[in-house]
Amino acid sequence: MGTGGGRAGRRGGRVVRRLSLILVALAVALIVAGCADEHPLDTLTPAGPDAEEINDLFFPVLGVAIIVFFLVQGAIIYLAVRYRARRRAAAAAAGTDGDESDDLYGDEEYPEQVHGNLRLELAWTIVPTILLTVISVFTLISLVELNKVSAAEDDLRVTVVGQQWWWEFQYHLDGDTETPPDIVTANEMVIPVGQQVPLEITSRDVIHSFWVPRLNGKKDAVPGRTHPWVIEADEPGRYMGVCQEYCGLSHAYMRNYTVVLTQAEWNEWVEGQLVDAVPLEPGDPGYEGQEVFLANCANCHVVNGVTDVNLDGVPDGMDDYDGDNGDDDITSALVAGAAPNLTHLASRTTFAGSIFDLYEDRAKRIPYLEVAERGYLNRGDLEAWIRNAPERKANDADGARGMTAFPGLSDGEIDALVEYLTTLR
Ligand code: CUA
Repeated sequence: MGTGGGRAGRRGGRVVRRLSLILVALAVALIVAGCADEHPLDTLTPAGPDAEEINDLFFPVLGVAIIVFFLVQGAIIYLAVRYRARRRAAAAAAGTDGDESDDLYGDEEYPEQVHGNLRLELAWTIVPTILLTVISVFTLISLVELNKVSAAEDDLRVTVVGQQWWWEFQYHLDGDTETPPDIVTANEMVIPVGQQVPLEITSRDVIHSFWVPRLNGKKDAVPGRTHPWVIEADEPGRYMGVCQEYCGLSHAYMRNYTVVLTQAEWNEWVEGQLVDAVPLEPGDPGYEGQEVFLANCANCHVVNGVTDVNLDGVPDGMDDYDGDNGDDDITSALVAGAAPNLTHLASRTTFAGSIFDLYEDRAKRIPYLEVAERGYLNRGDLEAWIRNAPERKANDADGARGMTAFPGLSDGEIDALVEYLTTLR
C-alpha cells in the first residue's frame, strides 16, 4: 500500500514536471512571437492618435488587473498552504500510519467554522465597485474620444465595404457619401499622413469587422447598416489590417493594407486613380488580353472606361443577382457579382484580399507610387490565382462566393490576360 502510493506519487510528479515544461515552452514561444520585429498586427506600437488613445486606456487597466490578480491569487495560495490539512500530523495524533483511516480529520481537527464577516464582505464588494466604476469612466471617455470626428464635412470620406473575402474602399473626395464614389479600389486604402479620414463601414453579405491594429480599434461591418469610424496615421507607411469577425471559410484570408502617403504623394495617387482606363485597339500591347478579360472577367470585375459600371460599383446587370428583374433579398445578394474594381490593379501591391503580393518582395522597398513601373510582377501567384482561385483560397461549399476557377483558359490566354492586367496602372 505504502509503496503503491509512492509510485503513484512519483508518476504524478513526472506528469506535473512535464506539464510545467510544456507550459513554460508555450509561454516562451508566445513571448518570442510577440517580440518579433515589426509585427504588422502589433497593438502595442500605435501609429496614430486613435490607437494611442486605446493604448493609453489599456496599460492602466492592465496595471490594475495585474495588481488584483496577484492579490487574489496570492491570497488563495497563501491560505491554501497555510491552512492545508496536515495528514501526517493528523495521523500521528490519531496514532495510525496515516493510510487507512477515513476519519483522520475528525471534527476537532477543523478550524473554527464561521458564517459571515460583515467587514470583509463590505470590503470585497465596495473595493471592486470603486475599481470598476473608475475603469468604466475612463473607458467611456476613450469611447467618446474615439468617435469624435474632427474632419470637416467636405473632407475626404471613405466607405469601407466588407465582402467574402476582400475589402472595397469607395472614396468620396468631397465628403458626400450620398453621391457615387470618385474612386473605387480594393484591399489597399491609401490615405494622406496626419489627416483624420472618417470611414463608413458596411458589408455586402455577412458580418465582417474592419481592424487595422496599429491605427485604431475594430468596427463591425454589418450588411444593411453603416457604422461610422475614423482612421489616421502619424507616419507614412503600410499598416496591415485583418477581418476580425468570423465570416466563412476564407475569413483568415480577408486582409487589407492602409497605405499612408505624404500629402503630395497622396494628391498624385488621387490624380492617377481618377483617370479611367482607355479601351485598347487591335495592335495595342495587351489588346488580346483585354478580349480575354471582356469575355471571362467583366461579368464581375469592373475596369472604369472599359466595362460599364453602376453607381454602386457593381457591373451593369449584376444588381439583379437572381435575374428576375425584381428587388433582390439578402440571400441572392450573397451571390453578388461584385468583385474588386480592377481599373488601377497594377498600382496596388497585393491582390486576392491582400493575401498575395502583386510584385516580388523587393517591391516593398520601392516607393508605393513607383511599384507599377519598377516592381517585378509576381507572375506565379497571379497566374495560379486566375487559373484556379478556389485552390489558393477556399470558397464556400457551393462555390457561390469568391472567384471561380477558369480551367478553360489556355496558357496563351492567361499570358495575354496577365499582360493586360499590368497595363491597368
Ligand atoms: Cu470577413 Cu472575417
